[in-house]
Amino acid sequence: MVFELKNIYKDYLQGKEAVPVLKNISLAVEDGEYVAIMGPSGSGKSTLMNIIGCLDKQTKGSFVFDGADIMSCSDKQLSSIRNDKIGFVFQNFNLLPRQTALDNVELPLLYAGVSKRQRREKAKEALRRVGLEDRMNFKPTQLSGGQKQRVAIARAIVNKPKLLLADEPTGALDTRSGEQVMELFKELNDDGVTVVMITHEPEIARCAKRVMYIRDGELHSGEFAAGSRANAVAKEETAPAAEKVQEEAAVTKDIPAEEKPRTGPKTMTDIHRDLDDILNRKLPELKFSDGSDIERKGDKI
Ligand SMILES: Nc1ncnc2c1ncn2[C@@H]1O[C@H](COP(=O)(O)OP(=O)(O)O)[C@@H](O)[C@H]1O
Ligand SMILES: [Mg+2]
Repeated sequence: MVFELKNIYKDYLQGKEAVPVLKNISLAVEDGEYVAIMGPSGSGKSTLMNIIGCLDKQTKGSFVFDGADIMSCSDKQLSSIRNDKIGFVFQNFNLLPRQTALDNVELPLLYAGVSKRQRREKAKEALRRVGLEDRMNFKPTQLSGGQKQRVAIARAIVNKPKLLLADEPTGALDTRSGEQVMELFKELNDDGVTVVMITHEPEIARCAKRVMYIRDGELHSGEFAAGSRANAVAKEETAPAAEKVQEEAAVTKDIPAEEKPRTGPKTMTDIHRDLDDILNRKLPELKFSDGSDIERKGDKI
């Protein structure tokens, strides 16, 4: 078991009023699964991802991640769970703009206290894994969108996390780059990495072995969800479920999304949040490969 959400509720305060955003959500994810969570804009996908990613806590209900009861964890404990056990991939990559691909990928290892030599080695291995061995010393501005996302994926897997958690990983990519990212997720999952991916695109969701739908804060099983993982795989092989997924998408389209879904304050990535920590408390430790530190390079997060 990677994690289990049981009867989760999440409210946001609007003035003094509690606005329910997630309603009675239960979801268990086992080792080696590949789950997509779909839903229209404003349905609560990112709110759910923030909870699964231990970036935010539920209002009510129980959430156990890799044996830990998240509700009772301190911020420090949550931060180490995030760094050690979860690899994050976001729509907008969230790379440090002035650092090379290699430096970006080394970052989680830096937090984990891994020696410089090991960091280098592991980061190179992760970049090779995503097919970017010839771009290690490039900075994000020198990379295409697809390449940037592959750097972000290398950063997400460099620690060998328990879970790869992606929020709209192809949202900012052209079709071809999106396909490459999906191919990479499939390979990683075939290698045993557990993947939970949030998307509103049916074509992307169908790359997963199990699809869940969130509508108006409620989670529903999708076409693949009824069966076991093996069933899902068999189903995928014998009868592509694209039509079904598209039908579902048509249904979700009918649900009026809020005109302007508000993005809450929880948009800071884990990396950025931890970086904040380091900048505030342990700046001298934050050295990059060329011996410089973040502040001198002028990276203001
Ligand atoms: N920090 C917040 N404070 C208040 N409301 C929020 C906050 N974050 C999200 N919401 C509301 O919760 C709902 C779900 O948002 P979100 O999880 O971002 O949806 P999605 O990712 O599916 O587009 C929306 O109605 C949004 O306005
Ligand atoms: Mg979102």
